[in-house]
Amino acid sequence: MSGIIIKGQNKLNGEVNISGMKNSAVAIILSCIAIPGVFTIRNVPQIDDVKTAKEILLCFGATIYDMDEETIRIDSTNVKNATISKSLMQKMRASYYVAGASLTRFGEFSIHLPGGCNIGKRPIDQHLKAFKAMGAEVCDGNIISAKSNDLDECCFTFDFKTVGGTINAILASLRLKKTILKNVAQEPYIGDLIDFLNCCGANITGFGTDELVIKGIENINNCSYTIMPDYIEAGTYIAATAIAGGNVKINNVVPSHLEKIVESFSKIGIEVLKDSNSLRVISNGEYRGTNIETAPYPGFPTDMQPIMAALLSAADGESTIKEKVFENRFGFIGSLNKMGADITQDGDKLYITGVEKLSGASIEAVDLRAGAALIVAALGANGITTITNEGHIMRGYPLIVNKLKQIGANIDYIN
Ligand code: EPZ
Repeated sequence: MSGIIIKGQNKLNGEVNISGMKNSAVAIILSCIAIPGVFTIRNVPQIDDVKTAKEILLCFGATIYDMDEETIRIDSTNVKNATISKSLMQKMRASYYVAGASLTRFGEFSIHLPGGCNIGKRPIDQHLKAFKAMGAEVCDGNIISAKSNDLDECCFTFDFKTVGGTINAILASLRLKKTILKNVAQEPYIGDLIDFLNCCGANITGFGTDELVIKGIENINNCSYTIMPDYIEAGTYIAATAIAGGNVKINNVVPSHLEKIVESFSKIGIEVLKDSNSLRVISNGEYRGTNIETAPYPGFPTDMQPIMAALLSAADGESTIKEKVFENRFGFIGSLNKMGADITQDGDKLYITGVEKLSGASIEAVDLRAGAALIVAALGANGITTITNEGHIMRGYPLIVNKLKQIGANIDYIN
């Protein structure tokens, strides 16, 4: 049996370096299908989703040079249209960005539905509505295909905020002369993709507001770009230090990306000290409960919800968590309750009564952030925890076992 084994209760002390943002890296790498050129991308996180994104790019005929552990050079000059296999598409959610990128590069696409964490139905109706607004004829079945009837201009309003829909629409719009997208998602990593595309010669303005204006890309520049730090990874290490106790400096962050996260820790009595590009967490392992409700950025991020549920399971007092973004993102409850947590669910709301200490158990990761939540719980638990299905965690947390070991956690892989 493979997995991760953790003996809880070690204090965490020292420094941890945050890697590049998973959800930015996969979007930026796959966006290279849309634009021919040579692009050097730095601060690429060492995670399985990046391996998948590179595998997809190779299927399209790109050339990828691994310059060092966190730097790749992509040559997309000879990229040709392709239909990615169902098994490869289903390795992650972001694989569907090939649709928007292919519409721009080839005027058409044909894709199987993507995979990704099982946290809800996750339809792509908004993506397809945006493509149609840009003049594409879409055939929606087991294979989704589209052919672009080049419009010059388009104005499209999303029915609600969708990260993937916003990113796919941006990628598809590069072919048009002018596109206005309204009611767009504003997660920081969408801004990272926009900055990369503008560095390559695009003209995308309005990020940080409800409305993006995208002027078609004419001249493409080869460029070098550094991916932003992963604020969800940073939030995960704050939670790990909070539950285990200790004093940890978290390097390579953009504090403004974590405002809502840091505010939530402050509400439970965990102070997070901010510097220009780092945070320091000091905890004695004691903290109180609170109420959390997830929302699109700049609200409390849904990706931190499972991690906060694990932390609040050992808080002093009651907490509630309302998950307003995905309809099935509580897959971790069984494992936390097996560790002695007291969590009940009523629809989209969790009721958590904090317990003195969780206890180690043999548990299973069911998705990426639920898996990270189990690691956080195990770090604060009495005794030994084994976590199987750790592949979910490896999709999005670079070197998590090594990084936790370096700050004092008793954690290792089970081979
Ligand atoms: C992105 O997923 C992230 N994934 C998720 O991170 C993140 O949780 C999510 O945004 C919300 O912040 C990547 O960036 C690869 P959405 P995405 O489209 O794009 C519904 C992680 O752990 N919806 O904003 O799939 C959808 O079902 C992952 O790193 C439609 O109904 O999220 C969901 O309920 C997990 N129709 C809600 O909107 C659509 O056409 C938000 O989804 C599109 C979405």
